[in-house]
Amino acid sequence: MNKTKSIVVASLMIGLSLAACNSGDMRRNPGKVYAPDMTYSRAYDAYTENPNFEDGQTSRLPVPGTVAMGHQLPDHLVEGDTNAYKSFTTSLRFSDAEITEGGRLFNIYCGICHGTALDGNGPLYASGKFAAMPANLKDAKYLHMPVGQMYAAIKYGKNAMGSYASQLDIKQRWQVIAYIKKAQSENGGDAFTFGTGNADTSKKMAMAVADTAAKAKQ
Ligand code: HEC
Repeated sequence: MNKTKSIVVASLMIGLSLAACNSGDMRRNPGKVYAPDMTYSRAYDAYTENPNFEDGQTSRLPVPGTVAMGHQLPDHLVEGDTNAYKSFTTSLRFSDAEITEGGRLFNIYCGICHGTALDGNGPLYASGKFAAMPANLKDAKYLHMPVGQMYAAIKYGKNAMGSYASQLDIKQRWQVIAYIKKAQSENGGDAFTFGTGNADTSKKMAMAVADTAAKAKQ
């Protein structure tokens, strides 16, 4: 190969590689698609348009009257019915591990105000940036609080405290309460018998849901 030829070939190669790097939409362009099923989803992805429904949406609310697998049946508490709050309760029983999980959830969602020590002195309140004093759950005033009233506070919120209904499902709310009650009972409060169940409650719940569904069919 003479000198001129090799210069031409070299400059062609450089030019080609530069052109390949320069094309602005390189990253967006998948190039040649050999297996379209792997590149383009055949399912209707969330938030994409969907011609199968009248409203054209893919994201749907659960079918009314159904309960997601492993979830509790809805409670029938009515906001503001404070008498009902006091007697509202649950038949759920939790293993020690489930109560420990309740403590983890408490520290995530409640600890910022109520404090991980449950003394109402969480970092947000202690910083002075939150004016309302969170309940000191270790105070005598709260040691004997009915579990249903705690449940209502989580579900609906209370004055400066917002609702945690969208963050905690029904079982998790009771798990958090079981954790609070356990800590309270160690401080002279009532021992609510949450902690006697060793079985996996989600299994029991699934059975209860199946049972209800079977009864509804009859
Ligand atoms: C943003 C701060 C904040 C967070 C987060 C918070 N709370 Fe509260 N909570 C308060 C305040 C303030 C009160 C006092 C409300 C009142 O009595 O006016 C309160 C009151 C309560 C009460 C007493 C309710 C009653 O009827 O007197 C309970 C029980 C309670 N909270 C539990 C929880 C649980 C459980 C969580 C987590 C799921 C939580 N709180 C998260 C601020 C908070």
